[in-house]
Amino acid sequence: MKRLPIGILGSGKGSNCRAILERIRSGDLAAEARVVISDVLDAPILDIAREFSVANAYLPPGQFRTRLEPEAEEELVKMLRGAGVGLVVLAGFMRVLRAPMLRAFPQRIINIHPSLLPKFTGLEAWKQALAAGEKVTGCTVHYVDERVDHGQIIAQREVAILPDDTPERLHARIQILEHELYPAVIAQFCQQYRGRSL
Ligand code: GRF
Repeated sequence: MKRLPIGILGSGKGSNCRAILERIRSGDLAAEARVVISDVLDAPILDIAREFSVANAYLPPGQFRTRLEPEAEEELVKMLRGAGVGLVVLAGFMRVLRAPMLRAFPQRIINIHPSLLPKFTGLEAWKQALAAGEKVTGCTVHYVDERVDHGQIIAQREVAILPDDTPERLHARIQILEHELYPAVIAQFCQQYRGRSL
């Protein structure tokens, strides 16, 4: 079976990466994880890649805090192209991507965010939703563009906010849905890939 080659980028704990790799391993997702790359040397997401025997790499990000140094971003493009990646999956990657990546992978970079975008972009979006007194929040998978948590929305799932919710409990429920939604969206890309429209 033709498998979509994906590359996963993340800076943190990697629970979405794990969910994706588990679905691939169980045969539910017709993708092939070619590489996992992190801008954080000791990020748990790299340990998860090793646990699943997926090629992995640390990418030194350079001097900036919220984006990659241009040379680092060019290097990232090379790494992903070298691995034959057709879809770039951001899973908790804490840097804004710019022209080198966006030009190299047009409409081929997706991200997951813990809110119902366009509401609550940026950090700790579940806390923002709680503080705003929302009754419902959720998670969104979207195409990545040059703005933070912006770009065409592909799919969303809703999570009810309960009267006695804490940020931790709400975030945990959102993450459970993320782990369903992200593999489901990647499965749609896999279908297009098999039909050769990707
Ligand atoms: C997720 O909540 C995702 O929505 C956001 O970053 C978090 C990554 O979590 N973009 P994990 O590293 O996949 O556990």
